[in-house]
Amino acid sequence: MLFLLLASALVSPQTTTGEALFYKQWQLPIAGQVKLGPLYNGRSCAACHINNGRGRPPVDGRDDPSFVLRFSIAPQNEAQRMALALEEYASIAEPRYGRQLQDKGIDGAGEGRLLVEYRDKLVQLDDGEVVILQRPVYSLDNLKKGPLHKNVQISARLAQPLHGIGLLAAIRDEDILSAEDPRDEDKDGVSGRANMVRDVVNSKIVPGRFGWKATQPNLLQQVAVAFAQDIGISSSLYPQTAQVCTDDKSDCLATSSKPANAGKNEISDDELSLTTQYVSRFRADQNGAEIKFGAERVGEKLFSEIGCVSCHRKSYKITTKDREGDSRPQTIYPYSDFLLHDMGAGLADHRPEAQASGWEWRTQPLWGIGKIDKVNGNRFFLHDGRARTITEAILWHGGEARHARARFSALSKNQRAALVKFVRGL
Ligand code: HEC
Ligand code: HEC
Repeated sequence: MLFLLLASALVSPQTTTGEALFYKQWQLPIAGQVKLGPLYNGRSCAACHINNGRGRPPVDGRDDPSFVLRFSIAPQNEAQRMALALEEYASIAEPRYGRQLQDKGIDGAGEGRLLVEYRDKLVQLDDGEVVILQRPVYSLDNLKKGPLHKNVQISARLAQPLHGIGLLAAIRDEDILSAEDPRDEDKDGVSGRANMVRDVVNSKIVPGRFGWKATQPNLLQQVAVAFAQDIGISSSLYPQTAQVCTDDKSDCLATSSKPANAGKNEISDDELSLTTQYVSRFRADQNGAEIKFGAERVGEKLFSEIGCVSCHRKSYKITTKDREGDSRPQTIYPYSDFLLHDMGAGLADHRPEAQASGWEWRTQPLWGIGKIDKVNGNRFFLHDGRARTITEAILWHGGEARHARARFSALSKNQRAALVKFVRGL
């Protein structure tokens, strides 16, 4: 009882902190106070980002919330084509279900249930070793609002790890844009371009960097979208939550450039920025030092030689402000270029988002990837968590990464082990 009292004191208005908001289990509406839902996926940020780590697919019949299904349809008319061209929205919402399957609702029922099954896919490496990959097949059960649009586009997304996210936010746009090579002019088979997306607050088109397709340009917007779509909480950035997606309006959950309804939103601007500030202080907990000895040095050399670095760019110089407001220059080692790459048919979701095509994904940062077991035990790699090991993740690489994958496959067993060991040490 005492514990409950203390816990509620933590989130009372006077003492609300970003940490309390991140962990807060949003409640069913009480006394006219509309908060959670009516449709949602998880009741707190921490429910999906357990220990700030990655999520898990709904395997073994488990009903974990740390995985979502995105929906959209191709534009159906001129107005929708125009809206996409102007990037008013990143995609056109599925008419009945909106942009995401919310599998939970405050009346006890969500929009439906997602099931996943895996089919084996055998890959033989050059030395004859066989690796069994698993290809996910999704199905939906109990769809509450009738069938999905016949041309629905579906994308499965694992909750991303959040360590060091504020440092990634501090990378300058110019540093990301300078690595673009959309026409592959250096002829290395790897192109790479930024997803240009709408910054809702400033009403501008800017490079995106958060999300598996880099659809969100900054942390504030990413956090506001999470509140709206994942928890069902409106803010001045996203005054509408999923409930308005029930009435055949294709503009449900549209990005709005007007910070309307300021007074009526379920979360205030202060609460939104407190949550964002809290998330942005998550430590990177990475091993920034140069790798010095043994197998890792061999692995590091291979990582460059076989072309992993073409996308998994090692480092950036950034400047952050410390708590006293003083500037602090530092080098970070996220191993990503934050650009979109065509990753081939095997990984394609065939669902465009802003300027990202249905084949493109943002290079996922590799820092901290070896700490996965210590974080929350969720050992699932790639955007939909289909890969169980780093080797499997590499073998799914195709498209622009096909040469790197082929060179990996041609390595000796010891070299492959050294490369994987290096990646696990990042
Ligand atoms: C239902 C599960 C769920 C909940 C609840 C949730 N998230 Fe997420 N989060 C995700 C998924 C899935 C992604 C990847 C989204 C994508 O690809 O567009 C993500 C991505 C992110 C990212 C971007 C990470 C990156 O590397 O680009 C941030 C930051 C984030 N979430 C913060 C939050 C915060 C803060 C909250 C609470 C307000 C929250 N999330 C609630 C599932 C969730
Ligand atoms: C053409 C660009 C490109 C190249 C080259 C490339 N990658 Fe990737 N990598 C990506 C992208 C994009 C993703 C995210 C794909 C997804 O989630 O579907 C990714 C994801 C990964 C992941 C999973 C990360 C996670 O947290 O789930 C690992 C591990 C990885 N890459 C390692 C490598 C290694 C090792 C090499 C060299 C053999 C390599 N990559 C070469 C673009 C590339």
